[in-house]
Amino acid sequence: MIISVVGTRPNFVKMAPVIRELQRRELPHKLVHTGQHYSPQMSTIFFEELGMPQPDIYLGVGSGSHAEQTAKIMIGFEQICQQEQPEIVIVAGDVNSTMACALAAAKLHLPIAHVEAGLRSFDRTMPEEINRVVTDQLADLLFATEASAIEHLQTEGIDAAKVHLVGNTMIDTLHTHLQRALDRQPWQTYDVEPGGYALVTFHRPGNVDHRETVTELARALAQIAARIPVIFPIHPRTLANGGGLWEQSGVRIVEPLGYLEFLGLMARAQVVITDSGGVQEETTALGVRCVTVRPNTERPVTMTAGTNQLVSPHAEKIVAAALTSTTQTAQIPPLWDGHAAERIGAIIQNWLMGAARS
Ligand code: UD1
Ligand code: UDP
Repeated sequence: MIISVVGTRPNFVKMAPVIRELQRRELPHKLVHTGQHYSPQMSTIFFEELGMPQPDIYLGVGSGSHAEQTAKIMIGFEQICQQEQPEIVIVAGDVNSTMACALAAAKLHLPIAHVEAGLRSFDRTMPEEINRVVTDQLADLLFATEASAIEHLQTEGIDAAKVHLVGNTMIDTLHTHLQRALDRQPWQTYDVEPGGYALVTFHRPGNVDHRETVTELARALAQIAARIPVIFPIHPRTLANGGGLWEQSGVRIVEPLGYLEFLGLMARAQVVITDSGGVQEETTALGVRCVTVRPNTERPVTMTAGTNQLVSPHAEKIVAAALTSTTQTAQIPPLWDGHAAERIGAIIQNWLMGAARS
């Protein structure tokens, strides 16, 4: 039996096609939701819209400091692994749930598959970077989205036989749902024209937890909003730590959106301004200009092939990048073709057959 793990918004988007593929192959499977994200708009709506099965097990860990959250997940997940004795545990991405479950499984000598392995920002002030490095060291099957990841894993001494360049399951989800998302014409809700608005998301602690940076980012948004409508579905961390500054910027603040509404808005945006990992990739797949307010990216293919551009958190720089009229010719990165989960399913099934023989 396979156990797959989800815990946060990007996990749902990355794992939905993998779960569907395990079901298609009739591989016995249980889904564990750690409860790291729990608000209806950060969790339930994704299960509904992405057609995911309800979790078999819900740990309900909720929010906390890094150590608290990681420890709670490990304690809960260790018990599940002891009861269920899975043949393999599948984790995705780079959040605390990913690393905590990988660590608990590894200590019980259970094999681990990591979806979205090998990405590196080389910035250990980001909690995600620590989660990535630890998870990849523990994994037995490493599924990479882009070529840079293969190089990083090789440099870190990981056996190449464990590593597979499969493409991007988040882009599988995009392919599956794009038409449905566009059919909803979500821009009408905001009374804006397709191609004539900016869509914003910020949630990295480096951007949203400090008053000076929030002030600067809100100043940038206010200047952009003076030129084109700006829609900002706000992450709970960003709202909680904003001290009211976002609300004063004159942009359209709304609660976090469901996947379909957000995807539809993203696909017809003039520009997307973000610090999200996944949104950098989705805008590249959609050919929509993306201004990423970060000093680095663990997803360099979105810059070398795609539509992504890094900008420092200074209002003038963000405004200039967002309102530029240059068009970028984007290429779709290799294997971002909507079939990554099928490749993952085939590799896992073969691996399970090999494990059963030995
Ligand atoms: C987490 C991930 C981050 C990922 C992001 C995706 C870690 C270390 N961080 O960041 O890598 O990019 O998810 O969105 O794993 N909150 C709610 N409702 C929720 C969830 C959170 O209100 O459903 C609020 C709580 O006040 C909480 C805060 O948001 O303290 C932060 O949540 P947390 O899961 O710790 O980190 P994220 O910032 O969401
Ligand atoms: N997303 C969404 N609604 C929103 C904001 C983002 O559905 O209001 C989706 C987005 O399209 C992508 C995923 O959530 O599929 C990215 O999650 P997030 O930015 O929270 O995490 P990260 O990718 O930075 O880890």
